[in-house]
Amino acid sequence: MSSRFDIIHKDTAGRIGRLTTPHGVVETPTVMPVINPNLQTIKPSEMRDFGAQILITNSYIIYRKDELREKALQDGLHALLDFDGPIMTDSGSFQLSVYGEVEVTNEQIIDFQQKIGSDIGVPLDIPTPPDVSFERASQELDITIERLQAARKLVTGDMLLAGPVQGSTYMQLREKSARTLSETGFDVYPFGAVVPLMESYRYADLVDVIAASKKGLDPSAPVHLFGAGHPMMFAMAVALGCDLFDSAAYALYAKDGRYITNRGTYQVNDLKYFPCSCPICQKYSPEELRKAHNSTELLARHNLYVTFEEIRTIKQAIWEGNLLELVEQRCRSHPRMLDALKQMYTHSDWLERLDPASKSTFFYCGPESAKRPEVLRFASQLDRFTIRGSALIRPSPGKMDSQYDNVLIFKPPFGAYPQELAEIYPLNAEVVRNPDYESLEQAYLNTIKLVELNPEAEFTLVIQERFGHPLLKKLEGMNNVKVIYPQGE
Ligand code: GUN
Ligand code: ZN
Repeated sequence: MSSRFDIIHKDTAGRIGRLTTPHGVVETPTVMPVINPNLQTIKPSEMRDFGAQILITNSYIIYRKDELREKALQDGLHALLDFDGPIMTDSGSFQLSVYGEVEVTNEQIIDFQQKIGSDIGVPLDIPTPPDVSFERASQELDITIERLQAARKLVTGDMLLAGPVQGSTYMQLREKSARTLSETGFDVYPFGAVVPLMESYRYADLVDVIAASKKGLDPSAPVHLFGAGHPMMFAMAVALGCDLFDSAAYALYAKDGRYITNRGTYQVNDLKYFPCSCPICQKYSPEELRKAHNSTELLARHNLYVTFEEIRTIKQAIWEGNLLELVEQRCRSHPRMLDALKQMYTHSDWLERLDPASKSTFFYCGPESAKRPEVLRFASQLDRFTIRGSALIRPSPGKMDSQYDNVLIFKPPFGAYPQELAEIYPLNAEVVRNPDYESLEQAYLNTIKLVELNPEAEFTLVIQERFGHPLLKKLEGMNNVKVIYPQGE
């Protein structure tokens, strides 16, 4: 079977891709609005106006209700919802995780999803919550994998089949199950049971779960982050390699009077001004919206508009090659997101292997940037420079260079590099004039490594006051290094 997912453009582990389904092609990353077959504040037929290309609904809710089931079996899922584009269907797994049991088997729900013409079906996986015992996580995972493999054999038509990755908060289980599912071969890989992590702001743990699951998969496989609907974390999840999201949040938040932005959520009662320019926010003031008879629906509409706005912002960032700059901005809107950013860069060695060799200019956005994959790559390639004779290391090109065999530029967070490379990515980075501690730390560690790699060369390091750092002591102590502190700048 030829691949149903084509990757068009990449940045970090993120990508713009095209997923082919029986009802059309979906450009990722994207969000699938969750449709409740029982009540719809916004009609599926309107969803395209917001930017939706694919919807998701719950086949178990349809299956359970005679009237819905009969119509779906007779006229098909697309007629039932009145939407002719791609529709993904979930199984009863969410109900399973909330109520402990469901009145359907894996075989029945897979068969039903095929019969009603779903574009992407989901087996009855077990969403094991975070922090359970290893025994429980492992036993439930075995059942999930068994059901997924059974489902793989049952799908005979053109329905795409999702293979949810479970394993609770055990990273080795996540990675191992992703690898096992990869060998069986699914069309989409959702990462399951992450909703409890997001609800409790455990974004750093979420990063580890995504990274572990991704590491077990073929990088070219499409990934769905199950139950992730808040746009604040989309950029980060995309940078880690997630392609599909689903949002019930737009409607659920609206019911609670909550107004979504890409930096977090407001109570609409607390808003004096709307920061957004969507049709709803242009037409109503917060006060008018609160008084409107359909205020919940209006809020849901705004929530959907901003959700898709963020998706377009992310796609543009991938296209330009500055996704990490966007991630670093978004992660500054909540301290738990900042934790997640730091956690993400503990995976920089993995991200580096997926990151394109050249992108748009690297912008230093804060101390976390010192741990970006590009900086790590530079450090790992220091052995490519062979330095013989005398070498001057200075913060910028200038006079008194000709007496040295080599001239290197010192630029935090990278360190020292031959000045001929100054215009080459990523060394042409835009960095701050007064580097922070973390940036200098990384730069001096790399410089120490460069000196150690070239024990025969004699280094003269010109250091300005703003580049002060405890690691300079270590450089001064090296026998082939002389550090000069010029007066003034
Ligand atoms: N919806 C949210 N999380 C999950 C999950 O882990 N599995 C399934 N099937 N649906 C979900
Ligand atoms: Zn708005």
